[in-house]
Amino acid sequence: MRAAYCTEYGAPDKLSVVELDDPEPGPGQVAVRIHAASVNFPDVLMVADQYQVPLSLPFIPGSEFAGEVCAIGPGVSDLKVGAPVAGSAMGGAFAEQVVVPADSLREVPEGLDMVQAAAFHVAYGTAYHSLVTIGGGVAGEWVTVLGAAGGVGSATVDVATRLGMRVIAAASSPDRLAVARDLGAVAGIDYSREDLKTRLRELSDGGVHLVIDPVGGDYSEAALRALRHGGRFVTVGYADGEIPRVPLNLVLLKDATVRGFEIRLLRRDNPEAVAAATRALSAMVRDGMHPHVSAVHPLADVAEALTAVAQRRTTGKVVLDMIGH
Ligand SMILES: NC(=O)c1ccc[n+]([C@@H]2O[C@H](COP(=O)([O-])OP(=O)(O)OC[C@H]3O[C@@H](n4cnc5c(N)ncnc54)[C@H](OP(=O)(O)O)[C@@H]3O)[C@@H](O)[C@H]2O)c1
Repeated sequence: MRAAYCTEYGAPDKLSVVELDDPEPGPGQVAVRIHAASVNFPDVLMVADQYQVPLSLPFIPGSEFAGEVCAIGPGVSDLKVGAPVAGSAMGGAFAEQVVVPADSLREVPEGLDMVQAAAFHVAYGTAYHSLVTIGGGVAGEWVTVLGAAGGVGSATVDVATRLGMRVIAAASSPDRLAVARDLGAVAGIDYSREDLKTRLRELSDGGVHLVIDPVGGDYSEAALRALRHGGRFVTVGYADGEIPRVPLNLVLLKDATVRGFEIRLLRRDNPEAVAAATRALSAMVRDGMHPHVSAVHPLADVAEALTAVAQRRTTGKVVLDMIGH
């Protein structure tokens, strides 16, 4: 099979595409013939050796995919060769095949094609859980989404809007805010030019109920300062590169709740919440929801695709297509 290969940590241009042996599934595992794999920001961090969980060299990057089962290991009875599946993994997805535990796979939501399915679960799962499971968001509330044109951000705008929340998008250019408006944001703030705290307070009539923050850096404190009394702040990621340190007196004075969300921990610890999210998201897909995929590349362009994400040049999701190209 062909696969992207990381033999040296660094920028994405260190990746090469090589020919490797097809992987064989062991007990409890299946091999998946990958049709499409989406780029998530952590893929950039893994290649640079900046992710919380390091991957040892050499490795195949890529953490989210959709495809069909092509081989079944001993002890797996509930999947058949040819079944369409989606999944996520700690590396291995930027390849024509991947081997994963059979019980880690998910259904391809009805209504999504393989490119969309590869871009769906991480971004939309993160969106739903940060908004609802962790954030407690309900219809009518003011929600601000930082990095609102990114993969997680655009999904969060989409889901929040469908749940009846009033979304104020924050992003770094008018073009990026337009993406969020198309997904339902009622207002936008260009935080590269406007004061985030002041504008959030103005637009939300005194303060937002909920902040969803996949960006970090200086934007986090500005957004926290724009919470109304009793508001909630969910920290999701640090695409900015800087992990913010916030003054705790802000939390005290606002009677605010600050919570973190991590998708792997939630999947491990809270299967009921995962099942509830799957039901809610599947219903939204049946109503026409699908990820905003802005670019589809062949596997040969993996370095270019990751570089564009690392350099903040993409909107929505970027996908590698292993079949169509
Ligand atoms: N907690 C979880 O379970 C979980 C799950 C998935 C992802 N994440 C995290 O969520 C974050 C976003 O992931 P993603 O896949 O949505 O990434 P993405 O598509 O690249 O979006 C990140 C957004 O952050 C903004 N940004 C601000 N400063 C940036 C910088 N210096 N470099 C790059 N982007 C910058 C960009 O928007 P503007 O240019 O408009 O500011 C960009 O659209 C990452 O930190 C990721 O690790 C966490």
